[in-house]
Amino acid sequence: MAEKLGEISGCPDYQLFLCNSGAEANENAIKLASFVTGKKKFVSYKRGFHGRTSAAVALTDNPKIIAPVNETDNAIILPFNDLEATEKALSMGNVAAVIVEGIQGIGGIYVPEEGFLVELKKLTQKYEALLILDEIQSGYGRSGRFFAYQYSDVQPDLITMAKGMGNGFPIGGVLIQPEIKPWFGMLGTTFGGNHLACAAGIAVLDVIQQENLVENSQKVGNYLMEKLADISSDYEIRGKGLMIGIECKFPIKELRQKLLFDYGIFSGVSGLNIVRLLPPLNITIQEADQFLQAFEIVFADISSLFVEH
Ligand SMILES: Cc1ncc(COP(=O)(O)O)c(C=O)c1O
Repeated sequence: MAEKLGEISGCPDYQLFLCNSGAEANENAIKLASFVTGKKKFVSYKRGFHGRTSAAVALTDNPKIIAPVNETDNAIILPFNDLEATEKALSMGNVAAVIVEGIQGIGGIYVPEEGFLVELKKLTQKYEALLILDEIQSGYGRSGRFFAYQYSDVQPDLITMAKGMGNGFPIGGVLIQPEIKPWFGMLGTTFGGNHLACAAGIAVLDVIQQENLVENSQKVGNYLMEKLADISSDYEIRGKGLMIGIECKFPIKELRQKLLFDYGIFSGVSGLNIVRLLPPLNITIQEADQFLQAFEIVFADISSLFVEH
């Protein structure tokens, strides 16, 4: 599993720690960064989501899911893409790592600005902190690259994965750059790396490779984004590959209901007005067309209800 993942992901020299979920992957990456640097503060970004375990949820920008026991003053949550604020925080000298999603998912599909990740890496190096890329939603081919950060010329210290890794079977992991030397017993797990999870993980990697799913994600994703732009200029389209956000000017509850009940198309959501599309990586152009035809009709129908008179 580790060898195959290293080869397909383009990170052949990274080490691998296996666990059972996304939150657990981030929790372990956070611990690892803290152990390795001896520091305890972490920088994360607004609209970000990193999971619901204690350290991960403290770095997640949603006060509703932070229970009193998870509250900490070790979290510094900054505006996304704000390098100046990041440098200011890092310059305090007590930040173990910066954690950032390859593409912000739950928060509404926000792609990092050009150059942001490269500059982040430089800043973390300057201030002896680590860079953690949370690829739990944006990874495993979702963005049209194996990891979304690979659109930038950057090598993260730690990369966290889960979701697509077992195609539904629970498995998560942390890729760890080769210079980080964990000591025996630093991290541990009972079920992480169990045989069934690894069999699922290997099967997923085999299918990704055999069916060229990363390329398919890019091809069909580009097609969807182009065609969506042709349908209307009345919404904003964001994303890469098969991770697409359509930000409408009105609440999309009825639009999603109509897509589901009239056309059998299940879509995702972020907030009140962002449609979040994350179709299977093997979606065909024909299936994309089926969605586009339905979306065009439903969007016209619903948006006419919200036209100001
Ligand atoms: C970017 C990101 N990080 C972490 C998580 C948490 O993963 P899990 O639900 O497997 O704990 C999620 C889940 O949605 C996610 O999107």
